[in-house]
Amino acid sequence: MDTLRVQSLASQSKETIPAEFVRSETEQPGITTVHGTQLGVPIIDFSNPDEDKVLHEIMEASRDWGMFQIVNHEIPSQVIEKLQAVGKEFFELPQEEKEQYAKPADSTSIEGYGTKLQKEVDNKKGWVDHLFHRIWPPSDINYRFWPKNPPSYREANEEYDKYLHGVVDKLFESMSIGLGLEKHELKEFAGGDNLVHLLKVNYYPPCPCPDLVLGVPSHTDMSCITLLVPNHVQGLQASRDGHWYDVKYIPNALVIHIGDQMEIMSNGKYKAVLHRTTVSKDETRISWPVFVEPQPEHEVGPHPKLVNQDNPPKYKSKKYKDYAYCKLNKIPQ
Ligand code: SIN
Ligand code: FE2
Repeated sequence: MDTLRVQSLASQSKETIPAEFVRSETEQPGITTVHGTQLGVPIIDFSNPDEDKVLHEIMEASRDWGMFQIVNHEIPSQVIEKLQAVGKEFFELPQEEKEQYAKPADSTSIEGYGTKLQKEVDNKKGWVDHLFHRIWPPSDINYRFWPKNPPSYREANEEYDKYLHGVVDKLFESMSIGLGLEKHELKEFAGGDNLVHLLKVNYYPPCPCPDLVLGVPSHTDMSCITLLVPNHVQGLQASRDGHWYDVKYIPNALVIHIGDQMEIMSNGKYKAVLHRTTVSKDETRISWPVFVEPQPEHEVGPHPKLVNQDNPPKYKSKKYKDYAYCKLNKIPQ
């Protein structure tokens, strides 16, 4: 066990933190957050019987915000609570037990338990540990990275994903129609039922200096869309007109991020949202994003029906794995 996990560091209850976590003044949330204002990210009610209105709201939010929250979706609150309970229980296991799921040093896959090793902007580290594993399609699942403890971990995750498919389909269909395509065309173009659902659990322990650190630094997601449930601790921020704002926590809502692949497929009509996370002084924040993304070998570019002589492609077409490689290594796309 050579990597010091943020959770272990936090459990030492020191009053100061190692310098590698202290952000520059241009990133520190204490300085760069617009305090006292929560961002009015669109809230979309999926139980609204006016389906055209819901479709329109999804299209507008994807275009103008790249982010929205869904309330009254079909995922029962017990299913979400179960997902959250088993993830929390995993992180509360003894450190040695968690390390059995650590991402192997020589692995080329992202899957496993870990702490981001390569330092980020300005050589800084995020105040967060994580667990990554695929939950769809079944043939791509590697149960080696699914905790055996608590014993209901697998069932809770499978149950959640079962419901998630319905929401993913509704989002893709609405976004497809919003682009002037047939409702099935956008998902098919992204890889259809082979689209990967990659679950990440972010575990942000309490931090003695929350104003100086970030959980996850500013980024857009690489996925097509990301569907996320956080616990009750405030921490998600989005950038709007160059300023950082807290995004309001709404119990039971699903937070949706438009990711890079959706921006690309839509040839720029939908916008990937720039976001980051802060951490709390005395509470553990946990979030469960599911990245819905193309298979590594799948080629993604602007949808051919959206480009012509008057609307040339604004993005290159490339395999998703090549896109991911360039993004992770900061090579221009
Ligand atoms: C992320 O964007 O990676 C995490 C978002 C969150 O924890 O809310
Ligand atoms: Fe993200």
